[in-house]
Amino acid sequence: MKQDFLWWRDGVVYQIYPRSFMDSNGDGIGDLTGITQKLDYLKNLGVDALWLSPIYPTPDVDFGYDVADYEEIDPKFGSMADFEQLLAASHQRGIRVMLDLVLNHTSDQHAWFQESRKAKDNPYRDWYLWQDAKGGGGLPNNWQSRFGGSGWQWDQATQQYYFHMFYKEQPDLNWRNPKVRQAILDMMNFWLAKGVDGFRLDVFNAFFKSPGLENNPGKLGLAGFDRQQHIYDIDQPEMINLLAEMRELLDSYPERYAVGETFMGTPERAAIYSGSQALHATFDFSFLHNRYSAGAFNRSIHQWENLLSERAWPNYVLNNHDVPRSATRYTRNEADERLKVLAGMMLTLRGTPYLYYGEEIGMRDITLKNRAMVQDPVGKHYWPFYKGRDGCRSPMQWQPDTNGGFTSGTPWLPQHANVLTRNVAAQETQQDALLPLYRSLLRVRKNSSALQGGFYQPLTFDPRRMLAYLRQDSEQTVLVALNFSRRKVKLFLSTSLARTDWQFLYSTHRSECPKIHQRAIQLEPFEVLLLSDSNA
Ligand code: NOJ
Repeated sequence: MKQDFLWWRDGVVYQIYPRSFMDSNGDGIGDLTGITQKLDYLKNLGVDALWLSPIYPTPDVDFGYDVADYEEIDPKFGSMADFEQLLAASHQRGIRVMLDLVLNHTSDQHAWFQESRKAKDNPYRDWYLWQDAKGGGGLPNNWQSRFGGSGWQWDQATQQYYFHMFYKEQPDLNWRNPKVRQAILDMMNFWLAKGVDGFRLDVFNAFFKSPGLENNPGKLGLAGFDRQQHIYDIDQPEMINLLAEMRELLDSYPERYAVGETFMGTPERAAIYSGSQALHATFDFSFLHNRYSAGAFNRSIHQWENLLSERAWPNYVLNNHDVPRSATRYTRNEADERLKVLAGMMLTLRGTPYLYYGEEIGMRDITLKNRAMVQDPVGKHYWPFYKGRDGCRSPMQWQPDTNGGFTSGTPWLPQHANVLTRNVAAQETQQDALLPLYRSLLRVRKNSSALQGGFYQPLTFDPRRMLAYLRQDSEQTVLVALNFSRRKVKLFLSTSLARTDWQFLYSTHRSECPKIHQRAIQLEPFEVLLLSDSNA
């Protein structure tokens, strides 16, 4: 049975890194009014929901992932009125808005921590993870910070350590304190009541730490954090119960949603945290690490399909604000053929596609030539071995001018050198550019019940060259064929599929159905081909 459209299941989510999307006031940093100005672009692109990376007041030690107040807007992004306007204007266009919730830690500038650090008997002391030094002044245990060094920071004033999974300016909350739990649930309710449609939960599976503070056992790995098995500081059993409580809150409003970022998560782990009494979805990040090969993507898809089965609705992600862009991972020049094939895959799998701003025009990472240019503290810390995450956070390329139409001021990160040729305005007029391809595929998807909600059925595939599958519901069967290679390749069909009266839906290379010759369709190099058995 065809189901009614449900935005988070049938739609497509677009992640915006607010600092870098559109600057409306010329200070070089993107803002909420800038996003509102671009809503028609997003509507026209065909996305159904926006996920905004954090927009709360922040000292920017981790660019918003260090929150100083959960219920306010950072002035550099605008005001609460600007946010409400963005929300209303999005809803008018049928676009949902998701906020990023960073709940494992706050900023050290948050009022809760400011209180907490004042004295051992402060009422907020127990809102964070404070510990005495061990023995002769030693660390409480061997837990590490993801961003380097011990996770324990000594506080001279009160003579105790506090724990931080990330920077020392991001103290971890004590989720075993019922007051913390209540304050966070109240805050979620504040945004839900305002009309926010959903949340992305930052590193949610790190909220609880083992109360026994046992040392993590070691394992082989590159550096500190990676040389431990995180069995005491991540994935504690109490998490499930908390997720159920959050879910109850979300379900008390119509059509609300939460997706979790499983920290250090394997697909197996991610799957555990999604379901009807947990989060609606969790990310599987396998695609971020795959090399460009039909076989690699095929393996990830099968694994994710099998793990989730009927338990939860899958999602797929090729890009986000923490990793080099797919265009940089998979291409060495300005050619976009591979990106077209991947877009064809992302927008036709069974699951919610998450797009990252600029993916639709094939933005490449910027390269930072020296340490002074680096903005991301993790890049400053590890330079030159790891240059941080600025590369994938450069300003959106709207127009062919040096600032890319992003700002009238000086952008906080430089534009990519290709901005004069690779930008939205230019791609509006180029028929074979990526942007029109994204628009077309999003339109095809929106008009196809099978592509939105249908089963996923793999067809025979050639690990080096081709991926082909069916998406199927009671009304429609869609055949998707993706040629990953620069050679022509043949897709062999079963007798019944070969006899099907296929209608043309979409192709990167042709405008009508290909001939089926001896039960085979010949695909052009890097072709994306979609056929449908009906006009549904
Ligand atoms: C995961 C976020 O995606 C990343 O950007 C951030 O630095 C860490 N969590 C810490 O909040």
